[in-house]
Amino acid sequence: MADRKLFILPGDGIGPEAMAEVRKIIAYMNAELGSGFVTDEGLVGGSAYDAHGQAISEGDMAKALGADSVLFGAVGGPKWDAVPYEVRPEAGLLRLRKDLQLFANLRPAICYPALSAASSLKPELVEGLDILIVRELTGGVYFGEPKEIIDLGNGQKRGIDTQVYDTYEIERIAGVAFELARTRNNRVCSMEKRNVMKSGVLWNQVVTETHKAKYSDVQLEHMLADAGGMQLVRQPKQFDVIVTDNLFGDMLSDVAAMLTGSLGMLPSASLGAPDAVTGKRKALYEPVHGSAPDIAGKGIANPIAMIASFAMCLRYSFNLVKEADNLEKAIATVLDKGIRTGDIMAEGARQVGTGEMGEAILAEFKSLSA
Ligand code: IPM
Ligand code: MG
Repeated sequence: MADRKLFILPGDGIGPEAMAEVRKIIAYMNAELGSGFVTDEGLVGGSAYDAHGQAISEGDMAKALGADSVLFGAVGGPKWDAVPYEVRPEAGLLRLRKDLQLFANLRPAICYPALSAASSLKPELVEGLDILIVRELTGGVYFGEPKEIIDLGNGQKRGIDTQVYDTYEIERIAGVAFELARTRNNRVCSMEKRNVMKSGVLWNQVVTETHKAKYSDVQLEHMLADAGGMQLVRQPKQFDVIVTDNLFGDMLSDVAAMLTGSLGMLPSASLGAPDAVTGKRKALYEPVHGSAPDIAGKGIANPIAMIASFAMCLRYSFNLVKEADNLEKAIATVLDKGIRTGDIMAEGARQVGTGEMGEAILAEFKSLSA
């Protein structure tokens, strides 16, 4: 079997601790399942800045471009609050997304039955929740030009960001959302602000046209993004797939994450377009949570989002569907058994650290794989 090239970027804060648990799973899969992962590792974010003054080095960028898949931990922390904007930790992640052209960000929000009480909403509102946010990731206001602060010369400055979307960018992200909906409950809700934004008017038109031309079998609904945020906390189970732009997707996916009980539970996949020749798509997998500097290095971080991100990698990059299912099942089983990290701790459960949580999941995964 051909090697499966994984490039690992643990990053800052709790990134390395969470990634260590994924490394154990990779080692097991190579040793016992013959999975053939070949791993290499690099620096990103503040750790890359400390080592070579950049948020990611050219050498590591080249490795990321050459890999079948990138596993990403987290970046940032107060230590780098004052570094120049161009080399701040987040710039490493944004460059990876842009240069690898990872335009489709998949953020599932699944509420494990064992965790419905950990949500800030009533258990009956979130029990069985299974929604997928498809966030556009390489366009919109995060990348649009001009993007600057100019001096107006009268003691005032002006900060400018530009929200911009072209037809093809909306078409391709809508296509991803419709395709994924077909594998789920066949419903897409598109969110924008067409009542105040021209880019929202175009978004709405292009999603509607794409639906009509190619995906009319899928049920499509449009919602203004602010109303969408309200509906997400009012009645989250009404949604199946939500498709939205970079900025709204960033915010709405944090909201959706919290519905599931903890930010520490949510994985994500960022995918490029399939290569015309090989059919392979560039991909990066990362937890939705950040670097959590306040708890970094204490061995108490929840590694589930990182492990679940690796499960998405097995599924989307390597078509290892059974392994991905087993790993996800292993997470659910460990939660059912009442094993919890501090962030999702509940009465009567057993509180464990990062390593013990990772090992409990690995043990379940092993027994499911046997
Ligand atoms: C996310 C994060 C990033 C984003 C930051 C770290 C640049 O919030 O992945 O949601 O804004 O996209
Ligand atoms: Mg975010």
